[in-house]
Amino acid sequence: GVFASAPAYPRLIAHRGGGSSAPENTLAAIRAGHRAGFSGVEFDAMLSADGTPFLIHDETLERTSNGRGAVAASSDALLAGLDAGSWHSPAFRGEPLPTLAAALDLCRSLGLWVNLEIKPSRGWEAETGAAVAEVAARAVAAGLPASALVLSSFAEEALAAARQTAPGLARALLVTAVPADWEARLARLGAVALHCAAAGLDEHTVRQLVAGLAARGGALACYTVNDAARISALLQWGVAGVFTDRLDLAGPA
Ligand code: G3P
Ligand code: MG
Repeated sequence: GVFASAPAYPRLIAHRGGGSSAPENTLAAIRAGHRAGFSGVEFDAMLSADGTPFLIHDETLERTSNGRGAVAASSDALLAGLDAGSWHSPAFRGEPLPTLAAALDLCRSLGLWVNLEIKPSRGWEAETGAAVAEVAARAVAAGLPASALVLSSFAEEALAAARQTAPGLARALLVTAVPADWEARLARLGAVALHCAAAGLDEHTVRQLVAGLAARGGALACYTVNDAARISALLQWGVAGVFTDRLDLAGPA
């Protein structure tokens, strides 16, 4: 990649757009995160049956929409007609399940920093990485600053495909625990950051990891932390950004 180092991270990042205050992975969620004072949001993108990236976390529609079945088996027309808000609360009834293109356009207009998580349906890792990177590259061409965008994924195959499609976009590897060979993995992917689950991380581990990453221009971000004291501790130990569901914690950053 062309990035020598990780783009600056906001210290607090609204998880799935608007945390628990709005239906996850919707435009309403992104607006809620912005309104609450967050300068950065995270959301998940997955492919429809037509190969279009939409914002959704699960491989199936039931939990976060009024649809049924697999996202990967659903057409663009079907997904675009779903209600992705009612499951959260009546105030969000009729909130659509957005395309990635629409979400990135909203982030550009609001001036938000974005962590775009590539969430492939099983078996579609490379296709998803490539398609998401293509939409992201188009958003950058349309004015979303490249310095305000980091692609991430648990799927290394998706990150490799994203790199091939859009080598200039920053990439981060998502992990549930720090792998012993994190440095080799990041190097192989040309990734600039590690996004690690916060659970189980202690001060010594974090400080050592942050120092190791910083030595090669990289950053550490941690998900998903909903305890204010824990967030403060992680940031103090050198974590660049923390993903949270707590929109009330934004305030002056
Ligand atoms: O990207 C950080 C976090 O969102 C990863 O876990 O399951 O919430 O997508 P998940
Ligand atoms: Mg996510």
